[in-house]
Amino acid sequence: MDKLLIEGGLPLKGEVQISGAKNATLPILAATLLAPGEHRLNNVPELVDVSFMLSLLGRIGCPSLVSKTLRLDTTRVVFHEAPYDVVRRMRASVLVLGPLLARCGEATVSLPGGCAIGVRPIDQHLKGLEALGCTFELTGGYVHGKAEKLTGADITLDFPTVTGTENILMAAVLAEGETVLRNAAREPEVVDLVRFLRSLGARIHGEGTDTLVIEGVANLAPAVEPYNIVPDRIETGTYLIASAITGGDVTCLGTRPDEMENVLEVLRQAGCEISIEGDAIRCLRDGPLHPVSVETAPHPGFPTDMQAQLMALMSLANGESTIVENIFENRFMHVPELNRLGADIAIDGNSATVQGSDSLRAAIVMATDLRASASLVLAALAAEGVSEVLRIYHLDRGYARLTEKLLRLGARVRRASGDERGTSVSLQTMATGFQERTSNAS
Ligand code: UD1
Repeated sequence: MDKLLIEGGLPLKGEVQISGAKNATLPILAATLLAPGEHRLNNVPELVDVSFMLSLLGRIGCPSLVSKTLRLDTTRVVFHEAPYDVVRRMRASVLVLGPLLARCGEATVSLPGGCAIGVRPIDQHLKGLEALGCTFELTGGYVHGKAEKLTGADITLDFPTVTGTENILMAAVLAEGETVLRNAAREPEVVDLVRFLRSLGARIHGEGTDTLVIEGVANLAPAVEPYNIVPDRIETGTYLIASAITGGDVTCLGTRPDEMENVLEVLRQAGCEISIEGDAIRCLRDGPLHPVSVETAPHPGFPTDMQAQLMALMSLANGESTIVENIFENRFMHVPELNRLGADIAIDGNSATVQGSDSLRAAIVMATDLRASASLVLAALAAEGVSEVLRIYHLDRGYARLTEKLLRLGARVRRASGDERGTSVSLQTMATGFQERTSNAS
């Protein structure tokens, strides 16, 4: 299993191109099932989770061709199941439930079960789909859904679940009559899914607010023009923090500043100079880091997917920060690992208190989920010495070309096989990274 060797202490500088958003791509790929024919998508990020979704669609009967523009043929659906071995690797596989029910009238999806960041049930998905006329049976760890006919309904979610909103929305676009979905998720990725569905002929209003109104249509068809996936705001935020934590000066290109107000405001409070020009965001930090108090919340609040990265940054602030996690239970798995890198973080329930330190020091660390891994990379970029971040397959799920992008910003980072000892090879092997960087940059 690969790992990252990172020699910290260098300020990151330069420009980084932001990739398409993982959390927009996954539901949009599932939504292609609703419109038989060939779909073309641009700005699809090169991520393991995207490959998982494409292979799931392949099993369903929809082949794809990946090049600059992704082509996906959903003319035929031959299988309506998301089996355990796919769902266990990627929870977002559950996103095929709504589209398969709408298209085929039946679907079988393995229950995602618990995961590293909490229980994450799908009761809200099922509640909404039942209101539209689906029936479900839970047997052998699978949800078996049937829908003879989908009919519009008035649905209020108990919590604005992101993938739950997306699943219900994808079924409602082909239901007969009007659906009103209240307390819906407002995340930019939900808005992107609405835009995509609209490009297929769906009739939806209210995206970006907490009430979605969907007028069902009889059928949908692939759009004539290729669809462009929105840029990834979480990847953007992670590179901005990479700049902040190393005292650097990084500009993220091709991103969406308007969708990240909350994160940018927190970075300003922390002492970063943030400037925006068109679709570029620059983060410069040349003074001390100030502590902040942040609570995660559904959009437009501070995203839970940026919580771990912010915590890494606050471990070098000048004072005490508080970070409260309100979305997921058990999303502090990065804390003991950050502490191994010299951070001083204490957890009390869903609240973490971070005492800022003057410096972090290298260590061997291991993460359990995607954003936790990102926080360890960030801390290692600022730590003295060579750190090893193990189990980087989590990073491959959500950060396209991470090593390459970091190298271009001047980081000393190298991917190595799991049995290679990082601390003992140190600077000599890091030199290889530099050569790679120089040749990449030229
Ligand atoms: C999505 C994102 C993930 C992000 C999360 C919160 C994708 C592919 N993933 O995950 O990166 O961290 O939103 O912004 O878009 N819940 C229930 N019942 C349900 C559904 C959810 O109780 O039926 C709870 C969950 O356990 C959790 C909370 O609601 O505590 C939020 O989860 P949700 O918004 O559903 O997250 P995901 O859609 O899984």
